[in-house]
Amino acid sequence: MTDLLGKMKRTHFCSELRAEDVDREVILMGWVQHRRDHGGVVFVDLRDREGITQVVFNPTISPEVHEKAQEIRNEYVLGVRGKVAARPADMLNPNMDTGAIEILVQELKIFSRAKTPAFQIEDHVEASENIRLKYRHLDLRRTQLKNNILARHKATMAVRNYLDNKGFIDIETPFLTKSTPEGARDYLVPSRVNQGQFYALPQSPQLFKQMLMIAGFDRYYQIVKCFRDEDLRADRQPEFTQIDMELSFVDEDQIMEIAEGLITGIFKNVLGLDLAPPFPRLTYDEAMERFGLDRPDLRFGLELCNVSDIVKDANFKVFASVVKNGGLVKAVNAKGCASFTRREIDELTEFAAVYRAKGLAWIKIKEDQWQSPIAKFFTDDEKEALRQRLDLEPGDIVFFVADQPKITNEALGQLRNELARRLGLISDDEFCFTWVTDFPLLDYDENEKRYQALHHPFTSPNEEDIDKLETSPLEVKSRAYDLVLNGIEIGGGSIRIHDTQLQQKVLGCLGIDEAEAREKFGFLLEALESGAPPHGGIAFGLDRLIMILCKEDSIRNVIAFPKTQKATCLLTEAPSEAGVAQLQELAIRISKVVES
Ligand code: AMO
Ligand code: AMP
Repeated sequence: MTDLLGKMKRTHFCSELRAEDVDREVILMGWVQHRRDHGGVVFVDLRDREGITQVVFNPTISPEVHEKAQEIRNEYVLGVRGKVAARPADMLNPNMDTGAIEILVQELKIFSRAKTPAFQIEDHVEASENIRLKYRHLDLRRTQLKNNILARHKATMAVRNYLDNKGFIDIETPFLTKSTPEGARDYLVPSRVNQGQFYALPQSPQLFKQMLMIAGFDRYYQIVKCFRDEDLRADRQPEFTQIDMELSFVDEDQIMEIAEGLITGIFKNVLGLDLAPPFPRLTYDEAMERFGLDRPDLRFGLELCNVSDIVKDANFKVFASVVKNGGLVKAVNAKGCASFTRREIDELTEFAAVYRAKGLAWIKIKEDQWQSPIAKFFTDDEKEALRQRLDLEPGDIVFFVADQPKITNEALGQLRNELARRLGLISDDEFCFTWVTDFPLLDYDENEKRYQALHHPFTSPNEEDIDKLETSPLEVKSRAYDLVLNGIEIGGGSIRIHDTQLQQKVLGCLGIDEAEAREKFGFLLEALESGAPPHGGIAFGLDRLIMILCKEDSIRNVIAFPKTQKATCLLTEAPSEAGVAQLQELAIRISKVVES
């Protein structure tokens, strides 16, 4: 028998052959998806990256090859040479691209044998995620994950083409660097050459891209890994990828327009969908007022209503005292849901408690009365005002949270999303974008008793608010913007400070004095003094974007080799202990921290 690999090359992918190809001699190579033995004829579904083709081992064509086919098992890797044949009418498979044909095999090469896989390589696997992460190479053979990775490739190709056309230069920035303040903990890397000293892995290339603008590159981009040691969630990984960009001599509108073109290009290339920019814009204040969150999901209504003015003198002391103490009472009307059971209401109350709500008051609107533990506390006037403000009609149930503004907004905003999930108001097929603009520059950290940057410390304040930096810092708005898609922040950026004095002033507000500023970001301050263009930029979370495009609910499903919720890699078993010799070289001694 001829040696398949020695003499011949693959002629087609397993997705390509059609009825027109009947009688062609072809060579296919791939994995065994299924093997079936029907009355002496062996059928194998052969799978490669592109698709599946049925190949047939028939003793009347070659008894020798048929004999060899007996040992084939799932996931064996084969090369086959044979003739394309039309399938008999009763074996046509219209659900398969190659369902009209099969290959009558004349020559078989078994490239490698496979152990029984840890789980079936099927579209819907029963295996736990941990098993699938441990055998990631098997999981990646499945159509769903494979298609996600292919979609990701299409997206990054679209990004590169689009940005190249717009004059962006792809420039790499270091991973072994100094701390970059994006609000998470750093991953540290010990230096062997400089014992006792550490590099930090970048939380983003923020400072480098600003340096590149000061260097005169005008437009930079990079598809780049960022590293953040923070608590993980479904849409957070310790290392994730940003589409990172920075532009000189532009304002917010120009950056947003370029970003909209970029996102539109990605959707067109990956899903064939035509988006219609410009995307709507909401100010931060409006987003908080109407939706309670700075990343509102606009696929459904259920807007929040501020009722503080109506309930400020109510006999329900919880509400009245919250308003008196500068808090906020807000409500959401779940229309037509008065049929919620006690148990459902209890579940929603527990849900709100996760976001620190101290309770979840509710009123069911019945034809003839209001059913509620708190309705008795309201006067007729207050009830009428609530009815009008909240558009209360028989059949509705309205939920209230009263607390400090941060808690009220967060708890009720999250409850709004939860209600929409429960009521089936959310569609995966809808893509609702919104920009959120006019963020406050600063936030007050109650625990640390100091101001912190809502985005990062290099974000420019609004020019007309600069005077307020000293008098009322929390009122200062910034030139930052986030892009939100279906309730998830997919990108964020800002116009930066390009003036040293203003930069130092803002760092001062953050409690960073000149000495500390010089120590931490001296190179940036120095560079700002050497001729800095006005500049700004944005970074998109590529993983999150692909997650939404692929209708996945975890970014782990769009990353080839992701980490678990505990930041471990089950495939390689990282992190792992370091050897004594390695630690000695680094002058590091391990002592376990005992939690008090
Ligand atoms: P920011 O911190 O908002 O901005 O990050 C930009 C985008 O990155 C994504 N993202 C993440 N994705 C997965 N896992 C994570 N842990 C994670 N953290 C962030 C989000 C987010 O919108 N240097 C600035 C950008 C700029 O100002 O130009 C920055 O990093 O989708
Ligand atoms: P109580 O008077 O504590 O029994 O509360 C009566 C109702 O008000 C219950 O349904 C509580 O869940 C709700 N409630 C209590 N505190 C708050 C609050 N801060 N915000 C909203 N509802 C609350």
